[in-house]
Amino acid sequence: MGQPDAVFNKANLQADYFINKKRGVKQMKIIVCKTYQEMSQAAADIVARQIKKKPDTVLGLATGSTPVGLYQNLIKMNRDGVIDFSGVVTFNLDEYVGLPKEHPCSYYRFMFDNLFDHINIKKENVHLPDGLAPSLEDECKVYEQKITQAGGIDLQVLGIGHNGHIGFNEPGTPFESVSHIVDLAPRTIQANSRFFSSPDEVPRKALSMGIKSIMHARMILFLASGKDKAEIVSRAFNGPVTTDVPASVLQLHPDVTAILDEDAASCLQKQLLLNI
Ligand code: GLP
Repeated sequence: MGQPDAVFNKANLQADYFINKKRGVKQMKIIVCKTYQEMSQAAADIVARQIKKKPDTVLGLATGSTPVGLYQNLIKMNRDGVIDFSGVVTFNLDEYVGLPKEHPCSYYRFMFDNLFDHINIKKENVHLPDGLAPSLEDECKVYEQKITQAGGIDLQVLGIGHNGHIGFNEPGTPFESVSHIVDLAPRTIQANSRFFSSPDEVPRKALSMGIKSIMHARMILFLASGKDKAEIVSRAFNGPVTTDVPASVLQLHPDVTAILDEDAASCLQKQLLLNI
């Protein structure tokens, strides 16, 4: 996307983003909110500002429990006439392999239930990878092409898994990865089994945008909530940049806003205080 893969190895990726930092491009902004509700409102305000500034914004969207409050606020703002989704284009981060769209646990269903069915977005402007495509490899290539053709992602919403994954990029995923087929980590299968009737029903594979696809978004809106995310958030933002913690790559992105509730920030704050 934008740059030939041959020159976009890990060393170049890091150098590129370090140069941005040296040039004084915006650094990671961390906003700590008292509650999940405040976090969700602050996140919705940022998305709303982006859509007002650019009505044909390309949004990258995430699933999971964390962004549900954000989506509820966006629905309300749309109903109240504050924001208009008619020109907005969306690309979701990921989808399970093997689940039909209408399956109650597919990310397609999740997005329509939690957002798209309640706002004035055009269905043709909504994109998720198809986990039932005849060739999953081709599906990944086409997904990347569609993002490029749309002009790239303006604002990417991200959550974080307990093992530091972003999208479904599990620990060990190369930073130069683009959309690809993923073997889900046992911890992810276990965490996501809460949505299924049993862990056996959780698909073992998924399609996910890659780390490079995510890093090419112009702005990242990172959300984390709850004590159970505190340790991994601190490893991601205060620890070394390493493929062992995929979210740590965000330290190299020139425009990240992280909105955390106090619980998710509880380990981070101590470390930040120590660093001052
Ligand atoms: C899933 C999604 C991720 C999400 C993560 C955390 O694995 N693929 O995009 O960030 O779950 O979900 P939650 O917000 O429910 O903790």
